[in-house]
Amino acid sequence: MMPDWVDEAAQRDALDPLGWLPDRYSHPADTLYFDGNSLGLQSDTARAAVLGTLQNWAELGVMGWTETSPPWFTWVERVSAQIAGLLGAVDGEITLGSSTTVMLHQLLATLHPSSGSRWKVLMDSSAFPTDRYAVASFLQGRGHNPRSSLVLVEPRSDRLLHAEDIVRLAGTDVALAVLPSVVFTTGQTLPMEELTRDLRERGVQVIWDLSHSAGLLPHQLHWDRIDAAVFCTYKYLNGGPGAPGGAFIHQSLWPVQPGLQGWWGSANERQFDMTAEFLGAGNAHALQLGTPSILALSALAGSVSLLSEVGIEALHRRALDLVSFLDALVRERLTPLGISVLTPSGERGGHLALAHPEAQALSLVLRDRRVIPDFRFPDIIRLAPVPTTTRYRDCARVVSVLHDILTTEAWKPYQHVRPDVL
Ligand SMILES: Cc1ncc(COP(=O)(O)O)c(C=O)c1O
Repeated sequence: MMPDWVDEAAQRDALDPLGWLPDRYSHPADTLYFDGNSLGLQSDTARAAVLGTLQNWAELGVMGWTETSPPWFTWVERVSAQIAGLLGAVDGEITLGSSTTVMLHQLLATLHPSSGSRWKVLMDSSAFPTDRYAVASFLQGRGHNPRSSLVLVEPRSDRLLHAEDIVRLAGTDVALAVLPSVVFTTGQTLPMEELTRDLRERGVQVIWDLSHSAGLLPHQLHWDRIDAAVFCTYKYLNGGPGAPGGAFIHQSLWPVQPGLQGWWGSANERQFDMTAEFLGAGNAHALQLGTPSILALSALAGSVSLLSEVGIEALHRRALDLVSFLDALVRERLTPLGISVLTPSGERGGHLALAHPEAQALSLVLRDRRVIPDFRFPDIIRLAPVPTTTRYRDCARVVSVLHDILTTEAWKPYQHVRPDVL
């Protein structure tokens, strides 16, 4: 690493107003962690909240649903309201439960018209697989052939999605679009407000997958008049492995008639009436299905309290600074060695996507050297300098390690290894 970059990183760390934040998280020992976009690290607040819940469970058993302060029974509402503050939503527009995939099935079942001349679903061919499986199986369940009912927009030769291609494919038979706020491979952001508006003018509602932006981008979901969204809470919201899925549905679409009904979607005051007929919450909470995991919600609540203290604007500013710094380093040091940056500079989410024909072998050597990136088939290494846990010096170090691996061709022995998990 050229000393001026190391100095520059040290200077940035010294001047960083959020330099204290990474110290609030546990980091795997002797490891450079660049995978916070897969699983965010554990904050001291998340840990304390889980321990508190274990204690309450031990002391109260079932009485915890009503006798903890606040009662477990209200935790979905409470934690959702905290997350609403980070996503620019108003109270009742966000709910939590199950998983992102289940929430997507729920929103499809809720928003897709069961009859009429519009039934197709538009999505990008590079969508995260679970989104594609959910949409295809949903269409099949409604009696539509997924092959002819899925309208797929392809990335262009620059490997990026272009908003005009998406709008062009929204024909008069398309009912819904499922689109990512940040493309999980390339890290490209899409113009959500503009696309939602243009697609609405064509009669199409959009379900956004915010998994790679919730807790990172300063969304204004309510004020941008976004229709609906799902999101992961274990990435930039640091809710822990398997943390609940999230869903957003705009107030203008209330009262919500959930396509899938479960007793936790009931209005709170009626849930224990145990009526035969479903009396839903009317807002996003009507999308809940079964009993939420209070342990999982505890970790998320603890994490989100710290994120809310920092504020989404400050987190986003730090994320942008970190990713721009990493991008500049990569372009100067690694581009001459055959790495190309796929993430467009003006449309960046939280991670940088680096392409190299030997990306898989490179990511294996990185892991052996205790650097945790992730690999996406066939040729992408994702590096996420996340605003909560990464420091500028980590960016300088990861580039230095990659530089060494590339110049010494240390990836060669790993060329034909096919690991199960990366
Ligand atoms: C864009 C996107 N959507 C959905 C998911 C996963 O959903 P689930 O939480 O149901 O496993 C991921 C997981 O990484 C993702 O990246």
